[in-house]
Amino acid sequence: MLRLVTVLLTLIIASTGLASTIKAKELIESKVENLLSKMTLEEKIGQLVQYSGTELTGPQGQSINAASLVKKGKIGSFLNITGVENTEAIQKIAVEQSRLKIPLLFGLDVIHGYKTIFPVPLATASSWDPQMLEKIEQISADEATASGVTWAFSPMVNVARDPRWGRVVEGYGEDTYLTTQMALAVVRGLQGDSLANKNTILACIKHYVAYALVQAGREYWTVTVSERDLWTIYMPAYKAAVDAGVGSIMPAFTSVNAVPMTANKKLVHDILKEEWGFNGIAVSDWNAVLELIPHGVAKDAYQCAELAMDAGVDIDMVSGAYDYQLPKLIKDNKITMKQLDDAVTRVLRKKFELGLFKNPYLYNDLSREKETILSNSNLKESRKAAQRSMVLLKNNNNLLPLSKRIKRIAVIGPLADDKNNPLGPWSAKGVHNSAISVLQGIKDSVSAGTQVLYAKGCNINDHNKKMFEAAVNTAYKSDIVIAVVGESADMSGEAASRADIDLPGVQKDLLKALYNTGVPVVAVLMNGRPLTINWTKNYIPAILETWFLGSEAGNAIADVIFGDYNPSGKLPITFPYCVGQIPIYYNYKQSGRPETLANAPLKYESKYIDIPNTPLFPFGYGLSYTTFDYSNITLTKDKIKPNENLTVKIEVTNTGKVKGIETVQLYIHDRVASVTHPVKVLKGFKKIFLKPGNSKIVTFKIKPSDLELYNQEMKKVVEPGIFDVYIGTNSVDVKSASFEVVE
Ligand code: GLC
Repeated sequence: MLRLVTVLLTLIIASTGLASTIKAKELIESKVENLLSKMTLEEKIGQLVQYSGTELTGPQGQSINAASLVKKGKIGSFLNITGVENTEAIQKIAVEQSRLKIPLLFGLDVIHGYKTIFPVPLATASSWDPQMLEKIEQISADEATASGVTWAFSPMVNVARDPRWGRVVEGYGEDTYLTTQMALAVVRGLQGDSLANKNTILACIKHYVAYALVQAGREYWTVTVSERDLWTIYMPAYKAAVDAGVGSIMPAFTSVNAVPMTANKKLVHDILKEEWGFNGIAVSDWNAVLELIPHGVAKDAYQCAELAMDAGVDIDMVSGAYDYQLPKLIKDNKITMKQLDDAVTRVLRKKFELGLFKNPYLYNDLSREKETILSNSNLKESRKAAQRSMVLLKNNNNLLPLSKRIKRIAVIGPLADDKNNPLGPWSAKGVHNSAISVLQGIKDSVSAGTQVLYAKGCNINDHNKKMFEAAVNTAYKSDIVIAVVGESADMSGEAASRADIDLPGVQKDLLKALYNTGVPVVAVLMNGRPLTINWTKNYIPAILETWFLGSEAGNAIADVIFGDYNPSGKLPITFPYCVGQIPIYYNYKQSGRPETLANAPLKYESKYIDIPNTPLFPFGYGLSYTTFDYSNITLTKDKIKPNENLTVKIEVTNTGKVKGIETVQLYIHDRVASVTHPVKVLKGFKKIFLKPGNSKIVTFKIKPSDLELYNQEMKKVVEPGIFDVYIGTNSVDVKSASFEVVE
């Protein structure tokens, strides 16, 4: 029997190409081991040192003599050095003048595009389209690798429930399942099937872990999280990416439950590396190793390097602590040669996987750089992604879409003629002022007979109302106003927390002045976080959330305004009614005194006395120019065993007048369990395309893993009892059915 199994296994491995993959991995391991055995202590430490080029993405730079350090093998990677010529010049020193000729890695924050800029992650999250995201990440990798960049510090997958924190723009919203699907799409898009391909790049999932929980939404501040929330909400995206083969990970600047992530041996070494078997590189965030001193857990650089190395941080990004302190830490036997060799092995392994030893100039092809970057096809993909990443929040009396033959249209607002802010924060090598503005996009879309007027109205974030009069006069001369308002790109992203998340400056007053002219106003929002736009929601008849859409922003926005694309986006994050509600999210727990919404409101309930519990706009919400009806929800069984699957079906009909894409969302609710749990949790979504009058039966398979929870002993179990299934167009408007799990 054993012989039969062995023969069968051998046949399977041989037939599925698994054999060649295993062989290739074994070959790399032996090459790494062989190279490691030749390396001096200084050369080993060098592989763990990363310095920055001149474009600083952190508080301070370092003045180093790169060429001489590289020649001595004292640097293993750089960030913020780009372009075939620049990277090749330094790579040449490493592979032609150093003793062991170990090639360098070149890292960059390729967060939403390299030079062709795509919508920011919070925008692509609004598309709920992992396939689209994978495609644009492939393009980002193609452009970056064509410029000599071999490492992208992306995806950022911090599940975020606090829009005061600026980096919500860099992630995929408040839900674990959606964030995980998008994170996997980015890793697939960047790393492809093999890192050895010249157009695939090392990905880096970050910032490990729960960085978005910074207290009060204040950047870099303290994170406290329960074990249950850590494992239920914040760890799954990282585990999924590690299982999918992500090549590197970046611990967060922040402390989690009083232990800075850069010194968090339990979460980095024990769980990530030992328990999960992560075989890639753990790279610190910018200067984070030395920041263990202000964190108060290290007294000097020597102790910083010891703690970080001991925790399992392999590469020190720009602090120099490893460069200067590791030699002594090894001599003092504070860090063992085994620890050092493990870190160096991880770095060399990724360099071999990238094919850099086979051909160190694989990523230095000038002609490829010229023909790949900013190609028309890449810009076309950016426009498509931008169309799909917008969310129609309001459209009273179907004011939108507008006719292209409208006589006079006024485009007004501080972001109306802006060609730079649409590129968003972290726009990599995106060229300053290279985006298509909304004004330009509208001018290029309307008919020859349409008069397009423009007024700035006000600045983005000051108190100057001197331009109001001109804007109001412009509005009076038009049949409709497109008001383009929101934040500047640098009001979100890193180091950009806001305590007040309404429209900045006097923009709300500008909207009021335009509204008071009686000319219909369409608000186009350009922002990096949910905004508490209560007045706008109450008074402005049409509101389009566009986030920061990248190079083709204006064209895509015009495509939606004039109906060339029917908006299909859904919110990946809740819009709070006001800051006082934060953190507010769809998968909340009931409490022992839930709000009963009784006619005569009861006093002793979980609510505020001055604001509602409900948000301004809920998770999963987004309108279309058509309407979709949900009916006939059915389950294949009404009782299942804990290890059984279940299928749920629902009919969706396009009951409107235009074709459209709908994102059908599946939520699960465990009615009674051994621990408190959310009123619903997203467990699936499907995008469907329907022509007017057409219907489609949408099917979801519910698996035991969809019903699991961590019990009081923190064991993952499926408990017997009744479960509700909710399916709908957002997290509130749903059809429901229920089933029972029986022992
Ligand atoms: C920044 C960010 C991180 C980025 C790194 C390098 O401070 O926190 O996301 O990858 O430094 O630019």
